[in-house]
Amino acid sequence: METKRRKFEHIRICLEENVESSYTGFEDVMLIHKALPEVDYDKISLEIEFLGKKLNAPIIIAGMTGGHPETKRINENLAAAAEEFKIGIGVGSQRAGIEDDSLVDTYAIVREKAPNAFVIANIGISQLLESGVEYAEKAVEMIDADALAIHLNFLQEAVQPEGDKKAEGAKEALEEACSLKVPIIAKETGAGISREVAFELREAGVSAIDVGGKGGTSWSAVEVFRIKDDVMREVALDFWDWGIPTAFCVAEVHDILPTIATGGIRSGIDVAKALALGAEAAGIALPFLKPATISEEEVKRKVKYFVESLKTAMFLTGCKSVKDLRKAPLFITGKFREWLEFREISVEVFARRR
Ligand code: FNR
Repeated sequence: METKRRKFEHIRICLEENVESSYTGFEDVMLIHKALPEVDYDKISLEIEFLGKKLNAPIIIAGMTGGHPETKRINENLAAAAEEFKIGIGVGSQRAGIEDDSLVDTYAIVREKAPNAFVIANIGISQLLESGVEYAEKAVEMIDADALAIHLNFLQEAVQPEGDKKAEGAKEALEEACSLKVPIIAKETGAGISREVAFELREAGVSAIDVGGKGGTSWSAVEVFRIKDDVMREVALDFWDWGIPTAFCVAEVHDILPTIATGGIRSGIDVAKALALGAEAAGIALPFLKPATISEEEVKRKVKYFVESLKTAMFLTGCKSVKDLRKAPLFITGKFREWLEFREISVEVFARRR
């Protein structure tokens, strides 16, 4: 019951308050315009294959919700759009559905409405640590998922009043979950994944990384609006902008495991930049939330906006396919460039592409 109530509070706060952090790193990236693109707009293909499944565009509606009766309609609208555009879609943490059978339909509606989409189940690392691999299996079965995202959200757990602050043994728990029949995606939720952690995740047997970087929805910010204790609210305020910006994460991890760029993706240009930096796909959460509370048409409009804006960026850089885009030349400046130099990641690679 507690989980169910909290989930709805999170949705309400994300709809009503400003919960975003600043700077994704994409501000310091420029795709180089090509005045002679030599491709026809209508011949551009956005198709990709991700973890063995074809998607019509490299876009994933990032896991947000389920677990409260009111969220069924949100998931239904998101799923209808995912099915029409044949993109990916995640559900929110399935803890509430695992704890209470009567809430299963708030998640299961996603597979019902999106029989052909790439559907991603979702559990938290804390629940996996506590309850083991059967818990993960239940989540996958509940929505007949193509993959399972295990979210790493220790920033939120740290500032959340009812947060679970145990992290010892998390890597081992992940290793066990990797014995499941579906691929495992290790997913941050707004504080990002570094190169060092990506190596550990690969060692654990994970199939892909969703970087969940800084610059979009901040879970420390969300909790600021819930915390009653003055001191803890001050702590959460300090961590509002904590984390590794999304673009930095993509540059760090894309050559270690297939990468989803999530966190502050707000236009098709951001998607294009993320792919040019090496991501396979981009994940988007908050921009779909409000449309999903209105209707499936509103969500479809939003997906169309991302698709057309991505396609335009590809047209103007002369990219006929996502494969071309992943080799498009980039100008990288500012803090992002400093970070790459500091971390000894070659900037020249992006400049030398032609
Ligand atoms: C989320 N996110 C999330 N992630 C997760 O793994 N499990 C979850 O249950 C949720 N719940 C959730 C609810 C709401 C309302 C939002 C907006 C987000 C995190 C989400 O998948 C994503 O990683 C971040 O929101 C960053 O992307 P955006 O919002 O900046 O595009």
